[in-house]
Amino acid sequence: MDNVLSIAGASTLASPKRQMTEEKIMMKAIVVTDQAAGTAGMKLVERPEPQAAINDVVVQVHASGFVPTELEWPSTWTDRLDRDRTPSILGHELAGVVTALGYGTTGLSVGQRVFGLADWYRDGTLAEYVAMEARNLAPLPGDVDFTVGASLPISGLTAWQGLFQHGRLQAGQSVLVHGAAGAVGSMVTQLAREFCAHVIGTGRAADRQTVLDFGAKEFVDLGNDALKDVGGVDLVFDGIGGDIGKRSAGLIRAGGTLVSIVGPAEARPADGLAVDFVVESDRAQLSEIVQRVRDGRLRTNIGNVSTLDNAVAVLNPTERRKGKTIIRVRP
Ligand SMILES: NC(=O)c1ccc[n+]([C@@H]2O[C@H](COP(=O)([O-])OP(=O)(O)OC[C@H]3O[C@@H](n4cnc5c(N)ncnc54)[C@H](OP(=O)(O)O)[C@@H]3O)[C@@H](O)[C@H]2O)c1
Repeated sequence: MDNVLSIAGASTLASPKRQMTEEKIMMKAIVVTDQAAGTAGMKLVERPEPQAAINDVVVQVHASGFVPTELEWPSTWTDRLDRDRTPSILGHELAGVVTALGYGTTGLSVGQRVFGLADWYRDGTLAEYVAMEARNLAPLPGDVDFTVGASLPISGLTAWQGLFQHGRLQAGQSVLVHGAAGAVGSMVTQLAREFCAHVIGTGRAADRQTVLDFGAKEFVDLGNDALKDVGGVDLVFDGIGGDIGKRSAGLIRAGGTLVSIVGPAEARPADGLAVDFVVESDRAQLSEIVQRVRDGRLRTNIGNVSTLDNAVAVLNPTERRKGKTIIRVRP
């Protein structure tokens, strides 16, 4: 009994449950609890460090990415049975170092550098540690910085899957990329160009040079140019949606595809496919992507880099974001 009391540090009889709570090691994390508050509702708090379940690893997060629309995703607020899961830790992409393996977990080892995409329904990567399934991670080569590693999973995998799996891109085809200066669009532009496609990028007037530098052959200023002047294309990769997505369906040639990453297309090509999808983790594709970064075929589009202590302010910018914001959790 003496032992129980001294471990729990309590002056009254402690229940086993209470002891466990008090022994938990805490970590810093960015959480949300209030859906109506948007990104302004983010808070830096202390949360218990996660434990590794079967097939999990615990990763010490060195750098984390963040997609602003996370706050619109149902998975940020409820679990798979639609129960409230707040406070939920934001962020679903990371680069870091494995610190623990769950029961039966193979394929990765403690001390290994990794990067990857965390489950939408679990606590995320804007934290000092995250528990996630090993299969959602790939090795991060030693010559790739953690900041760069954390910028790749969502934008790189989305671009890869949209172009090659859902869009079935062939060499020589033409691709219209909406939002080509953005995190995903810049990856799409570079990968499509590498696979010998003719890339037409779109965006705001100020992004013309950026989009051409990423490898687009043409640029369409959506504020001033007429989209219909693009003529026919084989593939539209839509990262904007709304009216722009709708007007793009008519540009698709027979047998072509409209790939949307912003929800179901509001209009479908007359003689082609319309596909919308949510990015999935894929270790082999992560390795393909990081190899391209190492050999210079792919350039990341990183904007602001900040610390976890400053993350709430940085993720609520007062000015236009340029490139992807990365939170360097361990300096
Ligand atoms: N389905 C999936 O799996 C998946 C995966 C990743 C991302 N997404 C979604 O895809 C979208 C793009 O993501 P991202 O991370 O690439 O965002 P991002 O970095 O903000 O890129 C979007 C780009 O499109 C531009 N843009 C947006 N609306 C525009 C308009 N009306 N006219 C001209 N340019 C416009 C943006 O310019 P401004 O910055 O000036 O607005 C920005 O350059 C987001 O909605 C995100 O949630 C989906």
